[in-house]
Amino acid sequence: MPLDIVVGAQWGDEGKGRIVDLLSAQAEFTARYNGGDNAGHTVTVGDKTFRLHLLPSGIIHPNTRCVIGNGVVVNPAVLLEEMETLRAAGISVTPERLQISFAAPLITPAHRALDAAQEAARGGAKIGTTLRGIGPAYTDKVSRAGLRVGQMLDADSFTTALREHVLRVNQLLSRLYQAEPIAVEAVIQQYLDYSRQIKDYIGDVSHLLWEALKSGKRVLAEGAQGTLLDLDHGTYPYVTSSNTVAAGALIGLGLGMGFVERVVGVTKAFQTRVGSGPFPTELTGELAVHLRGTGEHPWDEFGTTTGRPRRVGWLDTVLLRYAARLNGLTELALTKLDILSGLNPVRICVAYRRNGRELRDLPYGLSGLEQYEPVYQDLPGWEEEIRSLRQWEDLPPRARAYILRIEELCGVPVRLVSVGPERQQVIEIS
Ligand code: IMP
Repeated sequence: MPLDIVVGAQWGDEGKGRIVDLLSAQAEFTARYNGGDNAGHTVTVGDKTFRLHLLPSGIIHPNTRCVIGNGVVVNPAVLLEEMETLRAAGISVTPERLQISFAAPLITPAHRALDAAQEAARGGAKIGTTLRGIGPAYTDKVSRAGLRVGQMLDADSFTTALREHVLRVNQLLSRLYQAEPIAVEAVIQQYLDYSRQIKDYIGDVSHLLWEALKSGKRVLAEGAQGTLLDLDHGTYPYVTSSNTVAAGALIGLGLGMGFVERVVGVTKAFQTRVGSGPFPTELTGELAVHLRGTGEHPWDEFGTTTGRPRRVGWLDTVLLRYAARLNGLTELALTKLDILSGLNPVRICVAYRRNGRELRDLPYGLSGLEQYEPVYQDLPGWEEEIRSLRQWEDLPPRARAYILRIEELCGVPVRLVSVGPERQQVIEIS
């Protein structure tokens, strides 16, 4: 009963898309379970680069079927645009290959407007959201006022519910935030059109996956964002509004407990973050430019969704150990090891210091993270270019020592190492 879960072990953007792309070769289904189009997955196949926000990365793989679970907030405009882009690139997107849960909450232009108004009202205390309406859509779900994808199947009742929703948000926009209200009837016409295009893709994802799992088929759950952005366990309030951790896959897909086999935590060989919030190992200056790149390559550290330059720093194994615990990781996939070539030393944060005391774990989860100073171990760096290597034995001994030290600090084996952006630039470690 193999349900494999791929999660981000940092603040998102770890390169989950390509790991999912690799693992989906053996999966019947790939499934998104959280987040929405705030996510950004870049997958490079040959000379084509796809930037996906909402569709599971597995859609690139011709033999894989894809689902979007009830835990995902769906903006139908983005969904339809991505479906169209993929079709134009020759990738089949049909109801046989893609199903969307009837219970997934919908994002509307009113949610997006509210996200922008709320961020503006936060002034200097901005979260730095992606402005995709994610927080307001989840807020509506929790306050039991939200719209769900399944409501699109009945035009009359959907029209009524949508009108009430936009009018309600308009009150907030104009009275609380002095922002422009949304044009109600235009949104209704737009969403009725989306409904016609999406209706054949709406299904019971929980049931579909349960049948697949019961008959021994492999399902790959694809997490969006990362553990440190989890609503409950991340660097609150600088988090996203969903449960990004592995347990979120069960709720976000409607599955029971007994199916899980592998839980793969994806981490970069260094640390990155977009948006606000604490980042103990953050770097500036030349080292930051080395890690971030200058923006000329698709793999440089600039947000897939927002284009913002990412904050960068040394790998933080206090946080990685935390992610291993929270997710119950069975293995790690280490991405972008090639970026560390040419740096000497290579530093790893192994503990934190506060008031003269060293800590390997934090006393109250991630709260108060900004008060800790990282304690580093310096490892000798390697000069060699490693992008062409495919075997563990061929890696420079110093690069291997770096990986072994990560395993030791986190107590989780590293099974995959990516050494470049292409599909085949991966070293599998048995
Ligand atoms: P929201 O999810 O748009 O509400 O943004 C909340 C926080 O999560 C912000 O700091 C965003 O930059 C961050 N965030 C959301 N999605 C991603 C992602 O896919 N990768 C990295 N950061 C993200």
